[in-house]
Amino acid sequence: PRPILLTRHGESLDNVRGRIGGDTVISDAGELYAKKLANFVEKRLKSERAASIWTSTLQRTIQSASPIVGFPKIQWRALDEINAGVCDGMTYEEIKKNMPEEYEARKKDKLRYRYPRGESYLDVIQRLEPVIIELERQRGPVVVISHQAVLRALYAYFADRPLKEIPHIEVPLHTIIEIQMGVSGVQEKRYKLMD
Ligand code: F6P
Repeated sequence: PRPILLTRHGESLDNVRGRIGGDTVISDAGELYAKKLANFVEKRLKSERAASIWTSTLQRTIQSASPIVGFPKIQWRALDEINAGVCDGMTYEEIKKNMPEEYEARKKDKLRYRYPRGESYLDVIQRLEPVIIELERQRGPVVVISHQAVLRALYAYFADRPLKEIPHIEVPLHTIIEIQMGVSGVQEKRYKLMD
């Protein structure tokens, strides 16, 4: 059995401010998580030769991977966070206040709702297809450092969760979801490294 480790990046400055999207750096707490993650990965994958670390192309995932040494790192644009289009950089409160129709439309159908000039969950699920094919093809373990919406979709694929649940799956910060693909199916463990 080979593990796939899924994690969000360490807390970013936009997470602290409650702003969606963007490309900010990680906070001090985020830096601490990056170190704990590196420790965990180095212990967990010590004797694994074919392991690799996958990130998105956004700073917060690349920074979160940076303390991990000894494994190749690959950046995927397909692992970038859902594109919030015209809402990028806003807080949910600001969207509710300034674009109430958009806010309501998303609340009604979060799976299909597409941000103006941005993406829907269905769009994200579709662009993840090549990532999933490559994940299935890998011989060694993979650590995927990505974002909330993307990880919901990836997790749902491996955990075999229905489409309609995807936008609501809990994928908290500073937590590693380990998925083991063995002959007897898929097993899951969660490691909360900090609050
Ligand atoms: O708030 C962090 C974040 O990754 C945003 O960048 C993104 O828009 C959001 O989560 C996705 O979660 P939800 O679909 O619940 O808004």
